[in-house]
Amino acid sequence: MNRIDNLIEQMTLEEKAALCIGASAWTTVEVERLGIPSIWVSDGPHGLRKVENEQEITQKSVPATCFPTASCQASTWNTALIKKMGDALAEEAHALNVDVVLGPGANIKRTPLCGRNFEYYSEDPVLSGEMAASLIEGLQGKGVGASLKHFVANNQEYQRFSISAEVDERTLREIYLRSFEIAVKKAKPWTVMCAYNKLNGDYCSEHHELLVEILKEEWGFEGFVVSDWGAVHDRVKALRGGLDLEMPGPQPLRLKALIQAVETGECDVKVLDETVRRLLEIIFKSQEVSGNETFDPDAHHKLAHEIASEGIVLLKNDGLLPLKDQKQIAVIGHSANEPYFQGGGSSHINPIKLDNPLDELQKLAGGAELVFAQGYTDQDMLNQELIDEAVKVAEDAEVALLFIALPSSKESEGYDRPDLDLTQQQINLIQAVAKVQAKTVVILNSGSAITMQPWLDQVSAVLQAWMMGQAGAGAIADVLFGKVNPSGKLAETFPLALEDTPAHINYPGEAGKVRYGEGFFVGYRYYEAKNMPVQFPFGYGLSYTSFEYSNPKVAGKFDDIDGLVVSVDVTNTGKVAGKEVVQVYVHDHQATLTRPYKELKGFAKVDLAPGETKTVTIPLGFRAFAFFHPEHHTWITEDGDFDILIGASSQDIRHVLTTTMTSTLKLPSLLDRESTIKEWLLDPRGAAVIKPLFDQIQAQFAETMGGGEEGIGLDVLAMIGDMPLASVMMWNQSAFPKPVDQIVDEMLEQVHKQG
Ligand code: GLC
Repeated sequence: MNRIDNLIEQMTLEEKAALCIGASAWTTVEVERLGIPSIWVSDGPHGLRKVENEQEITQKSVPATCFPTASCQASTWNTALIKKMGDALAEEAHALNVDVVLGPGANIKRTPLCGRNFEYYSEDPVLSGEMAASLIEGLQGKGVGASLKHFVANNQEYQRFSISAEVDERTLREIYLRSFEIAVKKAKPWTVMCAYNKLNGDYCSEHHELLVEILKEEWGFEGFVVSDWGAVHDRVKALRGGLDLEMPGPQPLRLKALIQAVETGECDVKVLDETVRRLLEIIFKSQEVSGNETFDPDAHHKLAHEIASEGIVLLKNDGLLPLKDQKQIAVIGHSANEPYFQGGGSSHINPIKLDNPLDELQKLAGGAELVFAQGYTDQDMLNQELIDEAVKVAEDAEVALLFIALPSSKESEGYDRPDLDLTQQQINLIQAVAKVQAKTVVILNSGSAITMQPWLDQVSAVLQAWMMGQAGAGAIADVLFGKVNPSGKLAETFPLALEDTPAHINYPGEAGKVRYGEGFFVGYRYYEAKNMPVQFPFGYGLSYTSFEYSNPKVAGKFDDIDGLVVSVDVTNTGKVAGKEVVQVYVHDHQATLTRPYKELKGFAKVDLAPGETKTVTIPLGFRAFAFFHPEHHTWITEDGDFDILIGASSQDIRHVLTTTMTSTLKLPSLLDRESTIKEWLLDPRGAAVIKPLFDQIQAQFAETMGGGEEGIGLDVLAMIGDMPLASVMMWNQSAFPKPVDQIVDEMLEQVHKQG
């Protein structure tokens, strides 16, 4: 018997139940008698928020490196770099005695209004899942656990503790679960954190299908499920639903209820033992690697700087950037002196160091004089005097740099954004400055998309710098002065207007429910389906150099098990070194169910010197071509042609290659007594069986309903094609030798015996 099973055998019921509820806000229960240690969990996800007192949830935390938040990380499209961030987070976790870091957040950016989008990666599940997997691999590779969160469909802050996300199975599988599935299967997080909200009526904290059938049984998750803080409503129901650890603790009444439930047989002790086993596995795993007591804060600051600089997206540049030889530069904006480097809520960090944008600019500005004006305050209020001051400074300068950060009143954990706009003061400021200074650059700090219509055409350049972490200011300066060539690409669409967004008519929901009515048409999938223009598309980002894509290659045909390797040569055709993100999308020519026009299925970032060419190869496996079939309840592939689209953004497709895939699946027939005539004809096994009968039916109906003299002018197949076969036959039962049900059952038997 192994150690864990042995321990479980020795544990009393009280000890087992106690282990399933936190000992405090951040620690698990110790069972000294049996040598079971207590472990510490602590926020993340982009830095340690370790508090001194384990009972305190919002106490000021000890200093730690504040890395760029997820939206910036994702914009790097650099999985290797994000893995390095995970390594660094693990070093700090060891030094601060944290065993599990509560992150990454892998919820999909369904609407840019979500106040917590700064903590999430993307509107696309592949990019989101790959980023989450990279961070987890970094963390756990150094012996510190991750907690992949918030499982699942926590895509808005509005009523997040109670609202039910109403999501159809295919959308759930292909979009909202997919991001988590990639991370769970690829990186095997030690823990998964369940979300506060309900999914289709049941709390995620007690959702057996979600936590047990999908996460643990289907995906093979071997760690433990921890609740979000306060997400458990009924501890016994949650235990039976697959929720292993309730946080925060202690919860004496719920402990009692757990013990009582097992004693009375309401809950099988085997369920409790399975939870205890999972908890013990991770508790002891977390003790295996003891890292150093210290870490190198300067190295981590440098890494935070590197991530921020790779995450900055150059959205517009009329040639003004990179800056050079200016004598006087106006630096305008509250966030030029008060850097906006992180978001509000549980991820809020006490940074070891914090770069100041003005100071960082001065380091690279050479002899240029920097003149500062505040322009706006961190409150959302109008102040013409501040604008007038800024205009004066701008008109006297050669260039105006506008540092514009959304106030925390506009976005944070705990509440959603009221709109996608900057504050009116900020809009007025940008327009007033641009009016007097043609050479104006806007540097944005926000966690998600911002609308720019009122001022975009009036400025020379725009950088999206996200919530850039403690070293973001230096990264911005590097990009502005060309020390770093920007290589960030948008991981979310920037729409022209809020009303254009996919979730607009369904968000935020009412009467306790929010319908995901747009289905899997999230982000670029939606805008493309609607052929709707956007401000900046998914995958978009400019560079100070240019890249040529040539020699694209893909096999002419393949099967879904062997998959496909896509390759393309990328050349840096400019004068400065740069990094490019090659994106591969897949378009299914024809499927039995609706599909988005194209979907991201692979990407790779490549670093090129001027004139250098490298071959980028991106493998595509079964899931790159599959879709989730709600009647088969699984992912399926279908024979047919696919386009492989190789692009520099979702709208900048450089090459399209067509290939033919053969499915190796042998799916059971879906035909049943209710199947329509078209469904019979679409299934080869059904078509073969129904053929003689169908010819007879067509002939009969042509007489009585078709275009002939006796008919009533209908197109017969158009009329009966979507009718159940049995119903069509009942319209003319006398024409058949046996009862219709018997004939249909006999035909179904012929079909299903073919397997
Ligand atoms: C918060 C957040 C979660 C965080 C936890 C602990 O409410 O939703 O992301 O890890 O509680 O602070």
